[in-house]
Amino acid sequence: MSLMKEIKTFAVPRGEVGVWWLGQNGFIFKTPEGTLLSIDLYLTNSVPELLPDLPVDLQRMLPVYVAPEELETDIYACTHSHFDHADPLTIRNLRNKDTIQFVGPTMTCHAYRSYGVEDARIVSLAPKEDMSYRDIKIEGTFALPTDDSDLNHIGFLVTFADHFKVYITGDTDHSELLASVAKHEPQVLITCINGNYNNLSHWEAAELAKWINPKIAIPCHYDMFRDNAMDPLQFRASLKMQAPKVEYHQLTHAKLQLLR
Ligand SMILES: [Fe+2]
Repeated sequence: MSLMKEIKTFAVPRGEVGVWWLGQNGFIFKTPEGTLLSIDLYLTNSVPELLPDLPVDLQRMLPVYVAPEELETDIYACTHSHFDHADPLTIRNLRNKDTIQFVGPTMTCHAYRSYGVEDARIVSLAPKEDMSYRDIKIEGTFALPTDDSDLNHIGFLVTFADHFKVYITGDTDHSELLASVAKHEPQVLITCINGNYNNLSHWEAAELAKWINPKIAIPCHYDMFRDNAMDPLQFRASLKMQAPKVEYHQLTHAKLQLLR
């Protein structure tokens, strides 16, 4: 069975949230009601294909677990417009564009339009703004841009079924303003740890975990490109040093993980 089919058919137990990690900052979440939320799906090799002059090795290292043509989701959300997050080739090749809501900050919404998404399907979010669909609420959070190619990054605070909260940092430079999410008391923090290209390092991500104080912290954005890689166990070590009560949790690509 294809992974997309597996995701479609899996019934999430009440009180839990299903998540599948597709690499980098790409996740598909599923609720007990069956609502599907995808975030920052990078389902092609567009970075080196669209930016052939880059001097670093950014060939995709992971398989494409779900092809863009196969993807079924209710909400397609992106934290910013870099190609490894709002991927032009993934979005252009989505077969079900006319049933999906596309969510992101302003510049990402411009990108959606230029990749063929119709205006009526696009929902713009800024920090502290939110949108809801069925049993999912997404609030934009502060994120500090990592370069001047897109000065409009956000993170997401996602609330599932009115109670279970997951904070996804997206790509962000280090800032004490990231701690503004702490008051929402998310149970899960999903954070970049790669440290390259001005993203949070594993040490800074662990400091963020100390500020946010979630039950579990999940590292991401270290696994897709040779020249943007990081050992997640470094994050585990930093977490032990700075936030010992926060449980380290490493996701396995394309495997269901239930959060509760
Ligand atoms: Fe990125």
